[in-house]
Amino acid sequence: WPLMAPTIHAINQLKRERNAVILAHNYQAPEIFHGVADIGGDSLQLAVEATKVKADIIVQCGVHFMAETSKLLNPDKTVLIPDTRAGCSLAASITGADVRLLREKFPGVPVVAYVNTSAEVKAEVDICCTSSNAVQVVESLNAPRVIFLPDRYLATYVASKTDVKIIAWKGACEVHERFTGEELRAFRDADPSVQIIAHPECPPDVLAEADFTGSTAHMINWVRERRPKRLVMITECSMADNVRAELPDVEMLRPCNLCPHMKRITLANILESLLTLGEEVTIDPALAGRARRSVERMINLKN
Ligand code: 13P
Ligand code: SF4
Repeated sequence: WPLMAPTIHAINQLKRERNAVILAHNYQAPEIFHGVADIGGDSLQLAVEATKVKADIIVQCGVHFMAETSKLLNPDKTVLIPDTRAGCSLAASITGADVRLLREKFPGVPVVAYVNTSAEVKAEVDICCTSSNAVQVVESLNAPRVIFLPDRYLATYVASKTDVKIIAWKGACEVHERFTGEELRAFRDADPSVQIIAHPECPPDVLAEADFTGSTAHMINWVRERRPKRLVMITECSMADNVRAELPDVEMLRPCNLCPHMKRITLANILESLLTLGEEVTIDPALAGRARRSVERMINLKN
């Protein structure tokens, strides 16, 4: 991305002038992730880092629920998202009213929400989780049954790792649900030595073919430690690009699927965001306290 150097330079300069930091998810394009981000990571790492930010402004390079999480965890900071339309099919699959109906249907059953939910939903649940800690969070509740929302595939994955009975919602990630076990088998048939790693938002037949399943950060750590010769990363495309930039000796085989929401964030709108201080993320004070409690309860869990 040498052609982008002037914009990268302008963003990094303006960032200092504004006393801003850029938090970027692992699915951000390399020119953002490696070019302008101060902190990169998976959803859990970004949430933890958001609590520590001392700068005045956080520019969230990710999707809207991530910016809301940063605002919940560090409410005195100005949190900007370069494009408010950066949504998520999981967050869009459930509302606060849906959670209240679930509680009526399953009285007394605790509710775990994946962080890929709106602040409105987080305000209605007992605790949040990410794909890094979902099993640990479910088991921390010491309950025989847990409502787990909104990702039905992550719910199935968690159910396979615990004795707790999981009651799932019907949401899915539009990026990960498109992978199939058949396409993975084709890669393995073509080269039996290939290593396949997959995100737990994938359907069960995909995970059954994978050598390793984990959050985006756990996948990256796996590659750093194992250094496979040839690798298929079953997740969003920019992950493979970012890992390849760090570990050029690992040959990345496609497939991958792009997340259209993550890709709404560009160098151009990051620069615009720093220039205009838009769009600022705000959370209805009537629900911010309850939503914050759900996220903080997750962060405060001891490893
Ligand atoms: P993690 O980075 O927490 O694994 O989440 C993946 C994802 O899809 C975020 O949108
Ligand atoms: Fe949502 Fe899936 Fe995109 Fe992540 S990759 S933001 S879960 S749609």
